[in-house]
Amino acid sequence: MNVVEAPGLGAYADLLQIRYRDDPAWVYPDVGFLRGLLSGRSAFLNNAEARAFAARRGDDTVAFAVAFADPRLQAKAGRAVGALGFLEWLDVEALETVTEAAAGWLRQRGLSEAWAPFNANGFFGAGLREDRFDEPPFLGCAHDPPGAAGDLTAAGFERLTRYLDFSVDLTAGAWRGPPAEAPGVEFRDVSRRRFKDEIRTFVRLHNAAFAGVWGEAEVSEEEGVELMGPAKLAVTPSLWQFAVAEGRDVGFVVCFPDFNEVLAPQRRPVTSPSGVAKVALRRKRVRGVGLFALGVVPELHGRGIGTALVARACRAASDLGYRRLEYALVAEDNRVSQSTIARFGGELHRTFGVYAKSI
Ligand SMILES: CC(C)(COP(=O)(O)OP(=O)(O)OC[C@H]1O[C@@H](n2cnc3c(N)ncnc32)[C@H](O)[C@@H]1OP(=O)(O)O)[C@@H](O)C(=O)NCCC(=O)NCCS
Repeated sequence: MNVVEAPGLGAYADLLQIRYRDDPAWVYPDVGFLRGLLSGRSAFLNNAEARAFAARRGDDTVAFAVAFADPRLQAKAGRAVGALGFLEWLDVEALETVTEAAAGWLRQRGLSEAWAPFNANGFFGAGLREDRFDEPPFLGCAHDPPGAAGDLTAAGFERLTRYLDFSVDLTAGAWRGPPAEAPGVEFRDVSRRRFKDEIRTFVRLHNAAFAGVWGEAEVSEEEGVELMGPAKLAVTPSLWQFAVAEGRDVGFVVCFPDFNEVLAPQRRPVTSPSGVAKVALRRKRVRGVGLFALGVVPELHGRGIGTALVARACRAASDLGYRRLEYALVAEDNRVSQSTIARFGGELHRTFGVYAKSI
């Protein structure tokens, strides 16, 4: 087996087609962030470093990883930690080969621990699927074969923590209980016309709200615009709201319909002609909405604003005919977030593991 440093996107794409060939639930993941990293033109690279590795047997790519060295993650975690993301492999030997090469690159940067699968920051995607393997990956969440956790353990990784998804039944009554208003606070829908500015506002509020949440290091406004800008046409304004107090934006809730439900199996990028056509034809059949981000500036916590934002997201989703809201990617130790969704009848629905290895 040999290792290629800085391979192209084609190596990753070829490996996906082999690894998920017989998986009827698979949906081609979004590769916008990865493409930017591989071409050297990602805003992420203004703040941190990343390097891709591919393990090959003969002409075939058998494993792929991106090593991330981000000072912001180290500052947040308070230790010399790097990350391994976009991790795909066909067997344990291939996984060991690619992670060892990537770990060597991290060691050269003074790092002594690697988190995986972790795209440098929870914001850019993280976690290994642990259940519901026969269902399409929920939008923005990981998908892996059932044996993946065992492979990571065999390669010397141990589970560090998990992300949790909760499900709210919008056809039942519980979500209607909590108030959708908070004293002295107004709410507004996102503006698609001013979308880039709205993303910048979102990133500022997100950095403030998530300062104390595991795995969420700061991101720059440019990184936010790069990641979320292409979603403009998929935005439903009532599913993305801001809370406003004394004329200032102080909180947000961001939801998107789960297009993956009606896409699977999808063997080409969703931005390909076949992907775009499928979304256009089937979007009315989508039943679930994902709540991907919720936050309130810390100085206004405990005043009912977060609860009101979730209530408004549930109401907007229900009014649009969706039947289920998935409250996605909550850090396992984030008790306030979990008690917030419990008030809406949210039940644990799926989990994603984050692993660590001393390197
Ligand atoms: C999770 C989060 C959005 C909640 O926002 P919030 O505005 O503080 O939430 P609320 O005020 O509605 O509820 C929080 C607590 O305050 C209490 N509370 C609500 N209104 C209150 C009021 N007027 N006076 C005093 N306490 C109040 C609630 O009962 C709740 O307590 P509990 O969790 O012990 O039951 C906020 O803590 C946050 O931004 N966290 C960081 C980001 C995050 O974790 N996001 C979640 C998705 S991963």
